[in-house]
Amino acid sequence: MEQTYIMIKPDAVQRGLIGEIVARIEKRGLKISAMKMGFMEEDKAKEHYKEHVERPFFGALMEYVTSGPCVSMVVEGKDAISIMRKMNGATNPVDALPGTIRGDFAIETGRNVVHASDSPEAAKREIAIHFSESEIVDYAKID
Ligand code: CMP
Repeated sequence: MEQTYIMIKPDAVQRGLIGEIVARIEKRGLKISAMKMGFMEEDKAKEHYKEHVERPFFGALMEYVTSGPCVSMVVEGKDAISIMRKMNGATNPVDALPGTIRGDFAIETGRNVVHASDSPEAAKREIAIHFSESEIVDYAKID
């Protein structure tokens, strides 16, 4: 069992795509073990994307992810990290295959609808930025 961090970015929230994206995740068989909606605080956005701080698009990225409410989730299941990366599709929507979230709903990297952790280390780090342990459901205790 793996956990991964998923963000439905402000453009997708504004376009009314929350239900579509959540439905795809649930239909695939992954479970949502934490979810919240709101503006991402600037310090959390900076911490989340700190590996990109030197990149030319960093300022635009900060503006984008703090421009409106986003949905943050912890998604869990067998191989959740790689399954979610594949479901999202390539970072640049031009390369994202039809059937993926970006391949179906995005046309530019700077408005690419969703984020998913790219490794177990990133998942652990990103979940800890956005959630406290008490906010994450332990299905083993309630199933
Ligand atoms: P994400 O999967 O959240 O991880 C890093 C984010 O940086 C990426 O999605 C895009 O939103 C953004 N990003 C990456 N490369 C570029 C780029 N060349 N121009 C604008 N934004 C980018």
